[in-house]
Amino acid sequence: MVLGVKIILERMKIMQQKRILTGDRTTGRLHLGHYAGSLQNRVRLQDEYDTFILLADVQALTTHFETPELVETNIYEVAIDNLAVGLDPERVTLIQQSAVPAIAELTVFYSMLVSVNVLRHNPTIKTEAKQYGYDELTYGFLGYPVSQTADITFCGADVVPVGEDQLPHMELTRKIARRFNALYGGGQEMIKVPEAMVSATPRLPGLDGGAKMGKSAGNAIYLSDDTNTVAAKVNMALTDPGRITRTDKGNPDICVVSQYHKVFGAAQCDEICSACRDGKIGCAACKQRLSMQLDTLLAPIRERRAYYEAHKAMVHELIAAGSEKAAKIGEEKTRLVKAAMHLAL
Ligand code: TRP
Ligand code: SF4
Repeated sequence: MVLGVKIILERMKIMQQKRILTGDRTTGRLHLGHYAGSLQNRVRLQDEYDTFILLADVQALTTHFETPELVETNIYEVAIDNLAVGLDPERVTLIQQSAVPAIAELTVFYSMLVSVNVLRHNPTIKTEAKQYGYDELTYGFLGYPVSQTADITFCGADVVPVGEDQLPHMELTRKIARRFNALYGGGQEMIKVPEAMVSATPRLPGLDGGAKMGKSAGNAIYLSDDTNTVAAKVNMALTDPGRITRTDKGNPDICVVSQYHKVFGAAQCDEICSACRDGKIGCAACKQRLSMQLDTLLAPIRERRAYYEAHKAMVHELIAAGSEKAAKIGEEKTRLVKAAMHLAL
């Protein structure tokens, strides 16, 4: 009896909670850029929101359609990275994107409401196309923000925690949702218009000074990297090139290492930066301090990672159960959507 009441109270709490949906393409393991820009936020938000995490395997295919087996193995890696940073498997819903038919269906319906020109002018699409060296875009790649709109709206997500680069997509999502409601909603918010929540953490550059982590080999520190790998990568990081000897006055504003200190060790950052400016700390010592700081952050993550690696069947079960739950929610949504669009006999 008491247990029954407890379960009902838990359910009521979940029903009152607003829902978050966010996710990652399953193209590779997650790194410190993901951690600073998004994962850290997710862990904090799971206490307050009903949290849905999408393992975006279909979106991964927009760039990796020639290597689907890589996308498949990375479904696990990305799920494990999310659990390793501290997302609670008892509370969060892990979803394999391709296992939710509603996402594919809604993508088709929404595609009527978007002009090709709007997609072609999306700044994130342009940047990514350049990064991948595409001079010709596939329909799927150009249209992935439409599919992302389906990711977010199939479950009526209220809030979407994302990095800044996703804002153009969020704008499109909100536009499509409003358009849909105006056309077919009969005055109702049939498709929830979600809010973006952007991480306050400054963007983390690649270790080589590149704009983004992960695109070129060795410029990213992965959550799964061990102590020696982290130290070796930090040692390679780009510093103020004007500093030749240990006593030269440095400029931390043009140094990647100091930006990492800012994000991962705010407390010691001011002290390190002024020591650098005065020529009182050498780059080797400065890097060593960063490696230690990162190792403290990564140690518990590695430990949880090892646990889930050793319990892969459990991870599989979690994804399967989460995907099944999501598929049901999506089915209900497409039933309503189809009826509103006169597609139900
Ligand atoms: N495009 C996102 C990224 O590259 C990943 C993603 C897919 C996503 N579906 C989403 C993010 C839905 C938020 C909501 O990071
Ligand atoms: Fe960068 Fe630190 Fe060297 Fe200054 S001392 S240039 S902040 S690595």
